[in-house]
Amino acid sequence: MAKSLEVVARPHELRERVAQWRRKGERIAFVPTMGNLHAGHGSLVSRATELADHVIVSIFVNPLQFGPNEDFAAYPRTPADDRQLLSLLDAEVLFAPEVDDIYPRGQETTARVHVPGLEDILCGAFRPGHFMGVATVVTKLLNLVQPDVALFGEKDFQQLMIIRRAAIDLCMPVEIVGVQTTREPDGLAMSSRNRYLKPEQRAVAPQIFAALQRTRLALESGSSDYAALEKAGTESLQKAGFRPDYFAVRDANTLQLPEVGSKDLVVVTAARIGRARLIDNVRAQRA
Ligand code: PAJ
Repeated sequence: MAKSLEVVARPHELRERVAQWRRKGERIAFVPTMGNLHAGHGSLVSRATELADHVIVSIFVNPLQFGPNEDFAAYPRTPADDRQLLSLLDAEVLFAPEVDDIYPRGQETTARVHVPGLEDILCGAFRPGHFMGVATVVTKLLNLVQPDVALFGEKDFQQLMIIRRAAIDLCMPVEIVGVQTTREPDGLAMSSRNRYLKPEQRAVAPQIFAALQRTRLALESGSSDYAALEKAGTESLQKAGFRPDYFAVRDANTLQLPEVGSKDLVVVTAARIGRARLIDNVRAQRA
């Protein structure tokens, strides 16, 4: 039987709710989201229920992580459907603040969290300021909720790595857990932005995962000509009708170029089609 869902909008109410549980020594898990929830978010919430006594989910479309020409205004907002999905899962509190609750003095002058070396590469090179916005809001949310554990999807691999690094470097008393990517049956990673795809774009979208898998197989069969693999991946996406931002083989522990002998690799890509920008990645292990 699912627990009933309480919706909390104000930070002080959230703090009071959490303090009661904390006084009793109960464990709290936190899943931050921007809403328009799908089965990928659902898998984070399910995992969270296994790790703690209470699960808090936040829905906040964070303006600080959107560039001036990005889709903040158009980002899909589906609060009624989101609440319905969460009530089927064992989430107990939905924290759904307004922009003013999170940035009471405006976002321009708020204190910010930077993760140098990770925030400017890959997606960060194409979305300046994006990861500062993510790291800042996640830090604020973690400070408000004060969970024992917070869960993030591996689909956003660079984001997960940046949050892990911020948590360690800023001595945040929280365990960061990564959860594997939930995919559609044809391989497309679930994403709120998939709803931007027209039917003909949706039909080719699984080519992203297919190109990543081909590259993973080549790496696991011993290929180490990363430049050739990146070129082949980029060209296959172009041929399918995408405008790739990048298709790259990186060390999975650092996101930097692999060193000779790097065994734990990740193939990461971001590609545009129509008005959607899709990201995905797969890990590759070498003997
Ligand atoms: P959002 O895109 O809503 O994603 C919320 C969480 O769900 C993230 O940790 C993301 O990696 C995870 N997620 C999304 N799609 C997934 C999938 N197919 N499988 C598994 N996990 C998936 O990411 C954000 O929001 C924001 O940047 C946020 C961290 C909330 C900060 O604003």
